[in-house]
Amino acid sequence: MNDLTSYFTLHHADCVDVLPQIPDNSIDTIFADPPYFLSNGGISVQSGKQVCVDKGDWDKGGTPEHIYNFNRRWLELCRPKLKDNGTIWISGTYHNIFTVQRCLQELGYKILNIITWQKTDPPPNLSCRYFNFSTELIIWARKSEKVPHKFNYEVMKHLNGDKQMTDVWRLPAVGKWEKTCGKHPTQKPLRLLYRIILASTDEDGTILDPFAGSSTTGIAANLLGRNYIGIEKEKEFYDLSIARRNELQDSEKRQKLLDNIRKTENCATVLVNHARKELRELMIEKGLCYLRAGDSKGSLQVTPGFERMKYVLLHTNGDHCQMFKLKKEGTFQIWTKENLEKYGFSPEHSTHYIVLHFDNKPLEIMKTPQSLKQRLNTYKARLYPLTDIC
Ligand SMILES: C[S@@+](CC[C@H](N)C(=O)[O-])C[C@H]1O[C@@H](n2cnc3c(N)ncnc32)[C@H](O)[C@@H]1O
Repeated sequence: MNDLTSYFTLHHADCVDVLPQIPDNSIDTIFADPPYFLSNGGISVQSGKQVCVDKGDWDKGGTPEHIYNFNRRWLELCRPKLKDNGTIWISGTYHNIFTVQRCLQELGYKILNIITWQKTDPPPNLSCRYFNFSTELIIWARKSEKVPHKFNYEVMKHLNGDKQMTDVWRLPAVGKWEKTCGKHPTQKPLRLLYRIILASTDEDGTILDPFAGSSTTGIAANLLGRNYIGIEKEKEFYDLSIARRNELQDSEKRQKLLDNIRKTENCATVLVNHARKELRELMIEKGLCYLRAGDSKGSLQVTPGFERMKYVLLHTNGDHCQMFKLKKEGTFQIWTKENLEKYGFSPEHSTHYIVLHFDNKPLEIMKTPQSLKQRLNTYKARLYPLTDIC
């Protein structure tokens, strides 16, 4: 592990004021997560609760013209700061990303890829009038049309089990383990920044983030032995960034972050099943976990991730919480209601059920995950990376 000699420079200011002071041709990669302009009173779900999507005044929607002028200004200031083979990554959703794309092209950048970050556990869409939003887009572009850019192709291939990495990245949202100093309302996962930095820089390189937030970029950069320059205009997030950076001084904490980051999408996944006390106990006795399937409203769909499932966590209001190992990783059967009744269950909600077999010897988990208390639907099942639970 590197001994944290790389620098972490954070400006508490508006990026438009600081960017001109950064020397030209000095930056290897820019990662920017600008305001999405979507804080307009909508609703979403967080930890099972309905929440307002407003992130803060910095994210309130402007007119299309305002959004265009804003993006064009900072993108224009960023370009000369990049080395000739340097690249820029900008994350966003449809609210801002098409404007960003237009500005990039107008300013002479060359677009290389549009990465789709597919969230493995997106919150549900409450209105039920749209497909569920489960992705964010990240535009990757280089400084110049003609000059070749830095890309650590082999490193990405290696990360992807020696297969060429595609432009769809399946990664979970921010885990609890990366919010130990508090959280930013639009914090990006360290795993995402880790991959971006590894793809486009070498050790000792310099990464700039003009909209630092909680400095996820800086934390990933320093963990990877890269230097960081961040700019954040809100004091609260500036302070959060400094607290996160201070945490890196502790080599044990640093190692834990790295271990969690490296257990990426290939890490074991846990299916979380919330059941009434009696039902949970019957499940444990029989070594069977069942979830309703079929066509009833709210029924479980077998989504990508099921195949990686290794454990099942049964709980009742989060108070009684036990984890079991599946007899065979990623397998399940579809049983009829009648079949389940033969095993002593009394299913009521569907004609067909997904059934998983586990060894009914509970495994130790370090602590009961707090957020489980908030999930009220008895039959709702969720898939989590093990690292987000233990
Ligand atoms: C989408 S968030 C970035 C979150 C960050 N990627 C993280 O992981 O924590 C955008 C951040 O940019 C900051 N911001 C908005 N306008 C800014 C500006 N003109 N200059 C500097 N920071 C700005 C906001 O305060 C907010 O924290």
